[in-house]
Amino acid sequence: MSQVCVVGTGYVGLTTAVGLAHLGHTVIGADINDEKIATLQAGGVPFVEEGMADLLAEGLRRKRLSFTTDVATAVSKAEFVLLCLPTPQGADGNADLSAVRAAVKSMARHLAADSVVITKSTVPVGSAFEITTLIDRGDVMVVSNPEFLREGTAIHDFMHPDRIVIGAQDQAAAARAVSLYLKLAAPIVVTDPVSAEIIKYVANSFLATKISYANAVARLCEETSADVRDVLLGVGYDTRIGHEFLKPGPGWGGSCFPKDTQALLSLARQYGFEFEPLVGAVAVNDQQKARVVDKIMKLTDKKNPVVGIWGLTFKARTDDIRDSPSIAIAEALIERGAKVVGYDPTVENEIGQITVSSDPYAALDGADVLAVLTEWEEFRWLDAEKAAEAMRGRGVVDARNILSRSNWEHAGFEYVGIGT
Ligand code: UDX
Repeated sequence: MSQVCVVGTGYVGLTTAVGLAHLGHTVIGADINDEKIATLQAGGVPFVEEGMADLLAEGLRRKRLSFTTDVATAVSKAEFVLLCLPTPQGADGNADLSAVRAAVKSMARHLAADSVVITKSTVPVGSAFEITTLIDRGDVMVVSNPEFLREGTAIHDFMHPDRIVIGAQDQAAAARAVSLYLKLAAPIVVTDPVSAEIIKYVANSFLATKISYANAVARLCEETSADVRDVLLGVGYDTRIGHEFLKPGPGWGGSCFPKDTQALLSLARQYGFEFEPLVGAVAVNDQQKARVVDKIMKLTDKKNPVVGIWGLTFKARTDDIRDSPSIAIAEALIERGAKVVGYDPTVENEIGQITVSSDPYAALDGADVLAVLTEWEEFRWLDAEKAAEAMRGRGVVDARNILSRSNWEHAGFEYVGIGT
């Protein structure tokens, strides 16, 4: 078992730290944010993620997991340093490597002899080479090991990965990185660093394209009176296609897909070509949000309608609203003169001009239209009659196709789904 330092204890870093500690490694999580470190040391998880609190408590109890703000000392004792730092979208569409660069420069001379530095968060293609140059030490190797963790199921995804990707120039470094994950039963793809970096972008862009494809199919179904749920059920049973990521909705969002698709488009442009399938997928995604706005506005004749929104996060089982289609839709509604009141199980505070209520029915007080934008399981079971009592109008747009059409129509609603 190894001594590991995880630099950056955000969502990817913390999942990796608690996961590796669970596998038996001794892990220190390092972060410059002292408030975050104090919370983690006390066993607190700063975001919603199933199973995280339990694994954090287990790691702390077994003394396999600790946290510090002293990054230099932490890396000096580690055989493996995993970089899990933020790489937001830069002005040119590419991921911005400046946080990673700054961290690497300040830690380079403190790294233990013969240690391996691993990039985990999504970095621009070519980063492993750039980091190797920045570290400028013959004894320290750099390996690319992209993460494929979904928010909401991150712990499960860490423990049961579909594959592990290791990109290294040096075979010994690759073998050492593989050793971190030996307890996991997963195929391991060992390749060069550039290929590993590209795998991440291509995987996320493919998934985003698949969802956009489903959203385009949904539109076709609306035009032809087919039912998208049956159509995609019939399509997804083809094992070459599969049902995963084939659900229509209000468009994809979150902290990864929008920026990773832009990064792939921008990478292709650097080499003088348009990555056409992805150009189409991004266009469909933008249209999808606009189409949901239109569906909502069509259900009312009020010039300044009141719209109640159930679901503000970019998907269920998270409290993350980064690049959430719900927020983009709410903002577009406000732009068109609507007043928007939202409810989400994990969101408490107002977001810009979006009022947030702590109760799903209170959010509908006087509303003309209800829009369901996130697939929280609990929304399925909310009472249509009670919603009708609270509302002024009788329109419901179910952008995740999770409500029972017959229940809502029975309560007097005009029900509009996606492709159904
Ligand atoms: C994604 C990747 O899945 C993960 O491998 C990568 O490491 C990070 O990015 P995440 O951002 O947590 O994970 O969300 P994901 O579950 O992939 O969903 C992305 C978006 O697509 C959400 O807005 C979701 O609601 C939407 N979606 C997903 C659909 O609209 N339909 C689907 O069938 C699946």
